[in-house]
Amino acid sequence: MKLWGGRFTGETDQLVEAFNESLSFDRRFYKQDITGSIAHARMLGRQGIIPEDDARKIVAGLEEILKDIEDGKLKIEGDAEDIHSFIEAELTQRIGEPGKRLHTGRSRNDQVALDMKLYTRDELDDMIGHLETLLQELDAIISDNKKTYMPGFTHLQKAQPTTLAHHMGAYREMFRRDVSRLKDTRARLNECPLGAGAFAGTTYPLDREFTARELGFDRPTANSMDSVSDRDYLLEYLFDLATIQMHLSRLSEEIIIWNTNEYRFVTISDAYSTGSSIMPQKKNPDIAELIRGKTGRVYGALQSLLVTMKGLPLAYNKDMQEDKEMAFDAMDTVRHSVILMTGMLKSMQWNKERMEASAKNGFTNATDVADYLVRKGVPFRTAHGLVGELVLLCEKKNCALDDLSIEEFRSVCDKIDGDIYDAISLETCVNNRKTLGAPGAME
Ligand code: ARG
Repeated sequence: MKLWGGRFTGETDQLVEAFNESLSFDRRFYKQDITGSIAHARMLGRQGIIPEDDARKIVAGLEEILKDIEDGKLKIEGDAEDIHSFIEAELTQRIGEPGKRLHTGRSRNDQVALDMKLYTRDELDDMIGHLETLLQELDAIISDNKKTYMPGFTHLQKAQPTTLAHHMGAYREMFRRDVSRLKDTRARLNECPLGAGAFAGTTYPLDREFTARELGFDRPTANSMDSVSDRDYLLEYLFDLATIQMHLSRLSEEIIIWNTNEYRFVTISDAYSTGSSIMPQKKNPDIAELIRGKTGRVYGALQSLLVTMKGLPLAYNKDMQEDKEMAFDAMDTVRHSVILMTGMLKSMQWNKERMEASAKNGFTNATDVADYLVRKGVPFRTAHGLVGELVLLCEKKNCALDDLSIEEFRSVCDKIDGDIYDAISLETCVNNRKTLGAPGAME
């Protein structure tokens, strides 16, 4: 049964039905739809727009429908056009005439705007929780690894020594910013569009303050045209998700590199790896690769909605139905990725000796030799050149700077004394970097 059959005489073409329907994907927010309708019905009753008794029957009927869906007794299926039609038809079937009063002073335009906002808000709150769990895992890794030395990289070339705590601390900053971005998005999102009607409000004395409060919003939206045509909050959320996924992807990339046979900084647990159908020895970092790979579809959701919204005249246009499928996909993808990353980190083995050994070769302390010379009065640029010569010498001998004898050091610069070894040890290099934000300054 269509909500709008009255004006039509011809049958709707099959392909048109299939192209137009949204039940197959908007069924996902049945709960938000019912919650919104309950608030609307209560308000209609309180305002005397419909009889109080009908409002009570509507609310009871909707609560029962919600329970039956959650218990699996009522399946959301059939030929209803969308979730709004489905619930309204089910309600009327159950409670009769009063059910037909529910849609008084409301349009599917403000209804869907509300549902999508409520759904996004629930997802957003849930996402903050998952990110906080990830942050707790990072905290644990950081506090366990303040003295786990490893090379830091620029251009993927060993640069200077750092600690695992410092390296993971960078990701902690990224995910903290993600949480704070989500909170910003939530604050702007939290205005209630219900009561905007099709776009011009209604002639009924709706109490929009009441429904906004009932539904946990800070206030009702200010302009009814904007209320039904605004999807900024969803674009913002998709940007937040894209950024989270980008951070996860970067971390995945590092894990993939660290897990290679060449590095062996980490060993991903069996639970987060898969094998090869032909090569018996293989254990592949598929989950990290998939998190990295799925970044494309999350960016795609953001791009898709930006393009959908780009040329839309006010107010509601059916184009906006396209805000859902890719957004839902992005929400699922990022949620799963955050949960999987947390589990992968928790179960991963950190090969600390490998990291430390790697930090000791590759001349990661070359800057520290130069700084030592600066402390002995050599200008930095001159010191830079002298250390270059020392590195050449090491390469010839195939050894590290620490392995040079004092005579060899002095053959390049006679300002070098026996205290050089202490000055360029891994511990000194890291611990002396006490600039705010540097590895030696980590509490
Ligand atoms: N399924 C629609 C959507 O997602 C619901 C709103 C329909 N409104 C309308 N005037 N046809 O946007």
